[in-house]
Amino acid sequence: MKSPASKRAFFCMSIKTHHFHAHNPADLHRAAELLKGGGIGAIPTETVYGLAGDATNALAVQKIFEAKARPYSDPLIVHVASVSKALTLGFFHDEARMIAESFWPGPLTLVVSKQTVIPDTVTAGRDTVALRIPMHALTRNLLENGDLALAAPSANAFGKLSPTEPDHVKSQLEGNIDFILDDGPTGWGLESTILDVSRPEKWLHYRPGPVIFSDIEAWMRAHTPQIELQDLSRNVSSSSSESLPAPGLLSRHYSPNTPLHLCDSADIPDILAAWEPETINALVVTGLTPHPNVSNHPRVFQCSADGSMDSAGHRLYGLLHQLDAMDFNSILVERFPDRGLGKVINNRLERASSS
Ligand code: TXA
Ligand code: MG
Repeated sequence: MKSPASKRAFFCMSIKTHHFHAHNPADLHRAAELLKGGGIGAIPTETVYGLAGDATNALAVQKIFEAKARPYSDPLIVHVASVSKALTLGFFHDEARMIAESFWPGPLTLVVSKQTVIPDTVTAGRDTVALRIPMHALTRNLLENGDLALAAPSANAFGKLSPTEPDHVKSQLEGNIDFILDDGPTGWGLESTILDVSRPEKWLHYRPGPVIFSDIEAWMRAHTPQIELQDLSRNVSSSSSESLPAPGLLSRHYSPNTPLHLCDSADIPDILAAWEPETINALVVTGLTPHPNVSNHPRVFQCSADGSMDSAGHRLYGLLHQLDAMDFNSILVERFPDRGLGKVINNRLERASSS
């Protein structure tokens, strides 16, 4: 069970991947039935598409790892419809329950001590489980109506870009999964924030996400001032998941196939001036900082559609998926302002970057 994904046989037989529409009640019902029967499929959430399977069914969980070629050392997030359901899967002390009730449903994943109903494969043998209630209403219906707890990592091949559109899932996982439940592009476009609240005296921030660090700090100052908060998202990095407090802190992750590099806003005029006609690189600008003469350049792409950080987060992975499918030698991306969601985007870009 613990052998690295690279040494395991990948699915050798292709299966039929059904294309379901989330707004069609009959399709939603078929998705629920497939999941209850131990199948796996991509579901929309407000962050990114997840590759879901029944978290209490060890065989379904194993299929998720196989379909993604994910190492068994990297645990999965479990999605539920209600706090009461979450209480049956993990142990919440009073403060953990308070923060769950304040931020759920939403893009905050809470790590708590696990109950035995969760198979060890889900948590990679850890004694904690990551839980969240997604904001996406139709996916919550699916969870609620089927009384399901769904293990769902992002629906991409391991280490690759997360999918924010059904086509991203299709290109990576079609033939390996039972269905894709289509609800168009996801909202935030960035994976959830991960906070370990398993210990009553000290909480650990593992992955920055749409619930930004300063919001958690402010909430804790008001409600749990006695608890220390440690940010592990910045200064921990390693190339091996076994040695990390959270395996998702791997220094390289979320990568397109095309090499990606980061640059500072101030360097962009020089970069453009030095571009030779035969240089086959793409440049992604944030869309937040004005750059004269870039708007009509065929190899310059603007991330934010309307100059807002939310729009940049929403479009980032879609744009990188699009550029990855083109024949560029490398993708250069302008670093975002280091505040709010910009910090989250920079975190993903740093992990995606080749240098
Ligand atoms: O927004 C999201 O979180 C999406 C949607 C589908 O919910 N899911 C997602 O899953 O991004 P995934 O597997 O790509 O990332 C989950 C991260 C992994 O880095 C994993 O190591 C970490 O959560 N994780 C899961 N269980 C954990 C645990 N018990 N302790 C520490 N980290 C954990
Ligand atoms: Mg992922």
